[in-house]
Amino acid sequence: MTNNKQIAIDGPASAGKSTVAKILAKKMNYIYCDTGAMYRALTLAALRQNADISSEIELTKILADIEISFKQMADGQHVFLNGEDVTQEIRLPEVTNSVSEVSSFKKVRAELVSRQRKFSDSDSIVMDGRDIGTVVLPEADLKIFLVASVEERAQRRYDENTKNGINTPFDVLKKEIEDRDTYDSTRKESPLVQAEDAILVDTTGLNIDQVVQKIEDLMN
Ligand code: DC
Repeated sequence: MTNNKQIAIDGPASAGKSTVAKILAKKMNYIYCDTGAMYRALTLAALRQNADISSEIELTKILADIEISFKQMADGQHVFLNGEDVTQEIRLPEVTNSVSEVSSFKKVRAELVSRQRKFSDSDSIVMDGRDIGTVVLPEADLKIFLVASVEERAQRRYDENTKNGINTPFDVLKKEIEDRDTYDSTRKESPLVQAEDAILVDTTGLNIDQVVQKIEDLMN
């Protein structure tokens, strides 16, 4: 038994999970694990190798050869693929549009879930994703299911993209988010569902500080 605390934050794409999780982790002095970044790093590795991303066997082989790690830097947490900083690259539209398919395979998920659990062995943790409360950390001390309207999520993604020099039209982003929601929620392996003991937090119309405050209130 350990005294380490676990906070699980799940929800659909662009609901603000990672922004909120990062702030909470910093405030609580917990580590932060962005599980979506791990699926994205594998997707990037597969695309770079021109692999067939519909092949579970090819993806599993690639995953066996890659190390995915996180490091806290002055400007926030960075993601590394075999030691290379891929923090920016894993957010490119090519990766975003392929990651749902990559994350749908049972063997891919089994390996990444096992790596994710290891992160929580040694420290208190805030982890965000789609299956944290249901599969990765079923005994988490607090489970949050974060949602927001699709319009608001598309607007957040649009603003973030604009800041990063990516010019995808709003309607295209909205359609991509809807498609990814459908794919993630209807897949066979660990679909996105709210855990029975998770608390639903709707962030539509709330700013980040208000969302963080809501979750902090739930922790007490
Ligand atoms: O949170 P994100 O957009 O970075 O996640 C990218 C994709 O990875 C998402 O479309 C579904 C998948 N994912 C998953 O299946 N399970 C997780 N725990 C985290 C992400």
